[in-house]
Amino acid sequence: MKLRNALATVAYTFAVSLTTGTVLAAEHPAVAALTATAVVHADRAGAKIHPYIYGQFAEHLGRGIYEGVWVGEHSAIPNVRGLRTDVVTALRELHVPIVRWPGGCFADEYHWRDGIGPRAKRPVTLNTNWGGVPDPNEFGTHEFLDFSQMIGADAYINGNLGTGSAREMAEWLQYMTSDKPTSLTAERARNGHPKPWKIAYFAVGNEAWGCGGHMTPERYADLFRQNANFLKAPAGARPIIVASGGNDDDTSWTQALISKAHEDMGAISFHYYTIPGDDWKAKGPAIGFAEDQWISTLAHTLRMEEFIAQNVAMLDRYDPQKKVSFAVDEWGTWYDPEPGREEQFLYQQNTLRDALVAALNMNIFQHHADRVHLANIAQMVNVLQAMILTKGPQLVLTPTYHAFRMFKPFQNATLLATELNVPRYTLGEVSVPAVSMSAARTVTGALVLSMVNLDPKIARPISISISGAGMRHVSGEVLSASAMDARNTFEDPQAVHPVPLVGAVLSAGNLSLTLPAKSVVVVNLE
Ligand code: AHR
Repeated sequence: MKLRNALATVAYTFAVSLTTGTVLAAEHPAVAALTATAVVHADRAGAKIHPYIYGQFAEHLGRGIYEGVWVGEHSAIPNVRGLRTDVVTALRELHVPIVRWPGGCFADEYHWRDGIGPRAKRPVTLNTNWGGVPDPNEFGTHEFLDFSQMIGADAYINGNLGTGSAREMAEWLQYMTSDKPTSLTAERARNGHPKPWKIAYFAVGNEAWGCGGHMTPERYADLFRQNANFLKAPAGARPIIVASGGNDDDTSWTQALISKAHEDMGAISFHYYTIPGDDWKAKGPAIGFAEDQWISTLAHTLRMEEFIAQNVAMLDRYDPQKKVSFAVDEWGTWYDPEPGREEQFLYQQNTLRDALVAALNMNIFQHHADRVHLANIAQMVNVLQAMILTKGPQLVLTPTYHAFRMFKPFQNATLLATELNVPRYTLGEVSVPAVSMSAARTVTGALVLSMVNLDPKIARPISISISGAGMRHVSGEVLSASAMDARNTFEDPQAVHPVPLVGAVLSAGNLSLTLPAKSVVVVNLE
């Protein structure tokens, strides 16, 4: 403990000195023990980082769609065609690449015909998964695709396998994508959209092991083949077809799907939620937590690396040409329900801890860029690890939003090989690497580095050797705060926001900077 305090003092001195522009000698023994080192091989390019790994998920759940996205044309909340203007503006700024809709568990009870045609005539259905509340079906296919286009995102539609039919699913895809004069496309035109839409991804069911029908992987594999067979679209316009896969450390779904059904699929999905504790009945609160829950949350989220690696190893065995990608189409934090709120609406506050979770996962997805081409954080607005929280006409951008915005330069960038040598951050029996890092060459030729300092108390000097590129200018942004559960609220919406990086020194191919305690740092080198 004494040693930790001593190191904390040195780190603090180091950080303070950096803000005044004087860098303490890195060779000082105590500083050296704290320092993380890295090599970025700018001349060793890896896979292209697909922009869809920064995707989002919007389900008919709680106040995610109704209120969060859709307020209706007659609302006093400013909107365009019923879609709230403030949310659209914030999401456009984020460059959301793709949105998955309408679920989740909701997808397997959603009948697309309920959500087309004149809104006043649409049926009111029951959302049995999420609170048993009526769904007015005002937000349907046309509204979703209008919303996606408005925010500049591509569309990922999740079909209904659980309670639908192969015909219903096939006709939904035809309705959206066909360019031939049929009754379905005439109906689409009457409903306001003569031209076909482009759908990037289409999934056959969701969590077939659970809310999607409690199936075995073998039964689902058969049903997947049957349903995928009828998912037809014009040449060149067929979406990538996603088979609903496993979760957590269960690889039996990937195994069954890749060995039995890989001809029809473009991707296998995977879900993993991060909870602070080990018990889903007592997950842990979103705010007001102690350091043991901070480190357990980060340790749990880092398991994403191991889960992806074990599934990818299986894919490599059956699909060495990498035709099938691994789609983490639900991920993020899930805490206990906020006291006083509807339990099944999954509304939770979002803190600096969530920003670190987001950045750690994005680093992991980037490292697996050759196989992970799609990921969707759960969820976009007002649900679980949201980008945005709303209250009536008010809107708050969460720390997670800021992390996603900082990672924008990684979209379409090329992963670079890195070596990282970091101390560990330990509390009690839990120990994690103190720093996570990822590097890429952006589409404009700059280098971008994303770093996370997981330690909530100790600032971490990092010395990075950049080999194979002569960079001359450094800039960046830092997201941190004094409290582990620092958050933006409707009263104080700017409490957590990125600030410009100061004190970084770039000299003779070496970049030195200090990562503040509990921070996300993104650096640009030109
Ligand atoms: O994101 C909330 C729910 O979590 C989704 O509906 C379901 O797929 C998962 O279990």
